[in-house]
Amino acid sequence: MTEKYTTTNAGAPVASDEHSQTVGQDGPISLTDHYLVEKLAQFNRERVPERVVHAKGGGAYGTLTVTNDVSKYTRASLFQPGATTDMLARFSTVAGEQGSPDTWRDPRGFALKFYTDEGNYDLVGNNTPVFFIKDGIKFPDFIRSQKRLPGSHLRDNDMQWDFWTLSPESAHQVTWLMGDRGLPRSWREMNGYGSHTYQWINAEGERFWVKYHFHTEQGVHHLTGDEAAQLAGSDADHHIRDLYTHIEDGDFPRWKLSVQVMPYEDAKTYRFNPFDLTKVWPHGDYPLIEVGSMELNRNPENYFGEIEQAAFAPSNFVPGIGPSPDKMLIARIFSYADAQRYRVGTNHAQLPVNAPRNVHQDAHSYSKEGSMRYSFSSADTPVYAPNSRGGAHADPARAAESGGWESDGEMVRTAAALHPEDDDFGQAGTMYRDVFNDEEKSRFLEQITGHVGAVKADDIRERAIQYWTNVDAGLGAQLRANLAGDAPVEAGEPGTKWAPADV
Ligand code: HEM
Repeated sequence: MTEKYTTTNAGAPVASDEHSQTVGQDGPISLTDHYLVEKLAQFNRERVPERVVHAKGGGAYGTLTVTNDVSKYTRASLFQPGATTDMLARFSTVAGEQGSPDTWRDPRGFALKFYTDEGNYDLVGNNTPVFFIKDGIKFPDFIRSQKRLPGSHLRDNDMQWDFWTLSPESAHQVTWLMGDRGLPRSWREMNGYGSHTYQWINAEGERFWVKYHFHTEQGVHHLTGDEAAQLAGSDADHHIRDLYTHIEDGDFPRWKLSVQVMPYEDAKTYRFNPFDLTKVWPHGDYPLIEVGSMELNRNPENYFGEIEQAAFAPSNFVPGIGPSPDKMLIARIFSYADAQRYRVGTNHAQLPVNAPRNVHQDAHSYSKEGSMRYSFSSADTPVYAPNSRGGAHADPARAAESGGWESDGEMVRTAAALHPEDDDFGQAGTMYRDVFNDEEKSRFLEQITGHVGAVKADDIRERAIQYWTNVDAGLGAQLRANLAGDAPVEAGEPGTKWAPADV
């Protein structure tokens, strides 16, 4: 076997991996030791900034296989009958930093990248179908309220409940979060949702509104508060380990993909705003339609290269799929690629994990150069459009494939209720009363008692009681009694361990 010798980054042989070059054995280190300088300088630059949200996570590659015919709703190639598409998934917590425990109570990210033959399609969802807010202008404030105090750098229940109670649209998502699904047992055992309403466009140019559901075939399972707290100490990477080892052992997790489809015209007269991210569409109104099956079956070989530098962006659409008027989705369309230009670099889309597999970017895209650009088209390929010299040209015939909707009116800043059921508390109340069983209800009450109980300010605590009273009058009364000590209450997990956010 040929011996391998260490080299500098420039390929020159290195004389020692262990000893700096000194003037005499214990003398000063000389600046002529360029290898020491290179080694330390390179090390100082090993990390890229962590994601501003969803910093802690893990992921794997897999395949989406279409098992049904939904071509009457979309022409997207990845959803055509029998199609199989390679994909990457990344799961995450939201508010915690990169080393934080996987089992803190939090929504979980469910980000998917499909390498389709018409470009990359990213579906960047969560394990909950709704969200805390419905206008992206509130997102930075929301996230800061869930992260850390500027002085002590501690998480703070007062901030969290102050924001939530002043943002009543959060009630539905907070109900999900405080319930069992706020503590999934593993990433394999949770559902994923596209959450937003998206648009699908079929080959005839007809438009539909859709919501995505990924139902786990491993069954939905959760941890108890005690189990989660114990794991947070004994195995902070519990969810990364679980996914990795199951895939290594050939036990590949699967999810069934279904969609709800709303005819385009229904949106105008539906009983609530169908683009409101704090609401689900009842399945009785729009039943689930099977699409296919997603399997994760290959671990990344390099975490940094394939997971840390992976860039999922809701702006990555493919023909046959488009956005909707959801204001949150539109804010996200800007936010992610912008964050990635900063976090990973201007040319993050050229990294193998992010690169499209259907075209050679340099030949077909008019984005050029910039920091770390490393592949280029031939010198005679035009760098401008339009050109008459054989460069790529846009295809106007494809305009209809990205969808759209009619819109006109004054420029305003409002969220006036235009549909009869555009309220903030209705679906949260239904979830508490009709979806939770008795045991879930009692764990839920215990949970919110612990969290609201850790609020120090009386006015915020009172608003929190009112918030839950608006969700369900009986629940609010029980919470008030618990907090007053009128009934025996088991403390929930301490608020400081709790890390909800972005989502
Ligand atoms: C990550 C912004 C709402 C799911 C991120 C990142 C940003 C961001 C900047 C980091 C991206 C990166 O550095 O690669 C926002 C804004 C939102 C919003 C501005 C509201 C307007 C949502 C919603 C969902 C969501 C509603 C789910 C339905 C995720 C996920 C990730 C993420 C899963 C992690 C992606 C990965 O694994 O790399 N968000 N977010 N976010 N966000 Fe959001």
